[in-house]
Amino acid sequence: MDKLTIRDVEVNGKRVLVRVDFNVPLDYITGDITDDSRIKATLPTIDYLTENGARVILCSHLGRPGGKVVDELSLAVVAKRLSQILRQTVEITGDCVGPEVEEKVAGLKNGDVLLLENLRFHDEEEKGSTSFARALSRLGDIFVNDAFGTSHRSHASIVGFTRYLPAVSGLLLEKEINSLGSVLENPLHPFGVLLGGAKVSDKVGMLDNIMDKVDSIIIGGGMAATFLKAKSYDVELSLIDDSVDTAVDLIEKASNNGVQLILPDDILVAGKISNRARVKNISIEDIPKDKRIVDIGALTISNFTKELEKCRTVFWNGPMGIYEIARVSEGTRAMANNLANLNATTIIGGGSTAEIVTEMKLAEKMTFVSTGGGASLRFLSGETLPGVEVLLDKKTAIKPTGSL
Ligand code: 3PG
Repeated sequence: MDKLTIRDVEVNGKRVLVRVDFNVPLDYITGDITDDSRIKATLPTIDYLTENGARVILCSHLGRPGGKVVDELSLAVVAKRLSQILRQTVEITGDCVGPEVEEKVAGLKNGDVLLLENLRFHDEEEKGSTSFARALSRLGDIFVNDAFGTSHRSHASIVGFTRYLPAVSGLLLEKEINSLGSVLENPLHPFGVLLGGAKVSDKVGMLDNIMDKVDSIIIGGGMAATFLKAKSYDVELSLIDDSVDTAVDLIEKASNNGVQLILPDDILVAGKISNRARVKNISIEDIPKDKRIVDIGALTISNFTKELEKCRTVFWNGPMGIYEIARVSEGTRAMANNLANLNATTIIGGGSTAEIVTEMKLAEKMTFVSTGGGASLRFLSGETLPGVEVLLDKKTAIKPTGSL
């Protein structure tokens, strides 16, 4: 990465304002954190800063409260979890700006860690307000972006602070950019992309950008319905993205580029999406009028497995079926197990796919599990992420003391 990182600046005794992505999944009944990977992923940065005498002020969003205080989306639950992991008290402020926050920041000692309350309780955050960014930036001497998962957003805490504070990358952001960057620059071949999830439109840019780098594109999940429709199959009640024409173009582009585009041959169908729905394994040619696709079928699992076994690099984003419903999660589970056992570079593209491999305790077996869903797709689309673009370049002069 060609940006300065926390290793390039003097942090001892400095108030370091760190944007992290603590947008963790919560149990909707108990409010407990169901996957703390995003918190743990920031530990290298937090540890580096505390060990080097910084006063660490963390800020993040949680969910989409829409500019209002929503008690269920308080970051208090994260402060509690982080305190347990760090084995030191991480206090949470009542708001992310204002006199109480300033007082708490003024009381920080070297090595202390403070977490500000959810930034998105203020609508200025998502609007990218400069006055909001200026007010928050007064809390720090240096800004660190370690929120890879939110770096595709031009929000106040992602790009706004950089107008007022020297801005460098955290260690997680650096690792994400380097790991995903190596997929684009130097993938071992054959290189396969396994895609699922509902929306084709989310992945068009990425597919377009990597079409000349990949050898195969394997499509399951909700996306498969749109591609099957593009090939004139009747997918009946299956949810179709409004990208059927785009799918037609992508099929043609793959063929022109010599890329194998592999779709399901059989699928599981059900009348309703529910835990008790009756499911049936049938050919893609025989989908009944009152049914929808809910998972890939047994033959398809076997076909996809054979394709993946040929690959030396695999990027995976999106489940193969409705993973939350046990009886139609088999396709997704099979693909996760496949990737975990491949003798290949395996990259998991964040979001629900990362949560699935973590829940299945397979994350350690993957080469790299990104913490960003939308951000990893945008990065692989070849776009520069706004939150990375605004950081100081490596060639920026640094004073001999190491401070900017
Ligand atoms: C994510 O979970 O992808 C990031 O935290 C960004 O969240 P957002 O999509 O609500 O901006």
